[in-house]
Amino acid sequence: MTKIAVFISGGGTNLQALIDAINNEYIKEGYIEIVFSNKKEAYGLERAIKSGIKTMFLDPKEFSGRQEYDEYLAGKMNSMNIDLICLAGYMQILTEKFLDKFHGKIMNIHPALLPSFGGPGMYGLNVHKAVIEAGVKITGCTVHFVDKGVDTGPIIIQKCVSVDDNDTPETLQQKVLKYEHQAYPEAVKLFTEGRLKIVGKRVVIS
Ligand code: GRF
Repeated sequence: MTKIAVFISGGGTNLQALIDAINNEYIKEGYIEIVFSNKKEAYGLERAIKSGIKTMFLDPKEFSGRQEYDEYLAGKMNSMNIDLICLAGYMQILTEKFLDKFHGKIMNIHPALLPSFGGPGMYGLNVHKAVIEAGVKITGCTVHFVDKGVDTGPIIIQKCVSVDDNDTPETLQQKVLKYEHQAYPEAVKLFTEGRLKIVGKRVVIS
């Protein structure tokens, strides 16, 4: 069984999609051991509690900086023998040391078709605003492994969403979220079944 940790900072609708996929046995080979947040008020923590999942909050103010914070967090993940970390709206860039420790074991979901509309500053409504400004007709979401760049890691799954003339960043965000809630459980299911292999920049699905 794959022991999963989900990292959040906010509402946690992707976390909910993962919880649901485990509860309805779409994902059979894994379970969420812990939901971690760097924000005390993150609603996702309540979602976890409602589902009987352990939660953890670490206050960044109680650490000297990001290195110390991530070192402590990595220690916690190690002591729980976490196999997979799912970033689901976790609004903090992980330090290099943390990434090294969990290489190939961290996934993220991004609300656009990477490598477009990713990178520093591309989060929340900014992404959908940029998509509309660029005039693209198709957007979507991407689940990818996390590497040392921002939104640059090997891509696991992508889903397309059409951009209509009357779409606003807000409507697009809602449309894309629906597909995120399908894509993330799919990627996690594949991981838990041992069907993902990273080959250079590509992820081969068996
Ligand atoms: C999602 O749009 C995800 O793609 C991005 O952050 C948002 C998190 O939403 N990384 P939620 O907290 O899962 O509702």
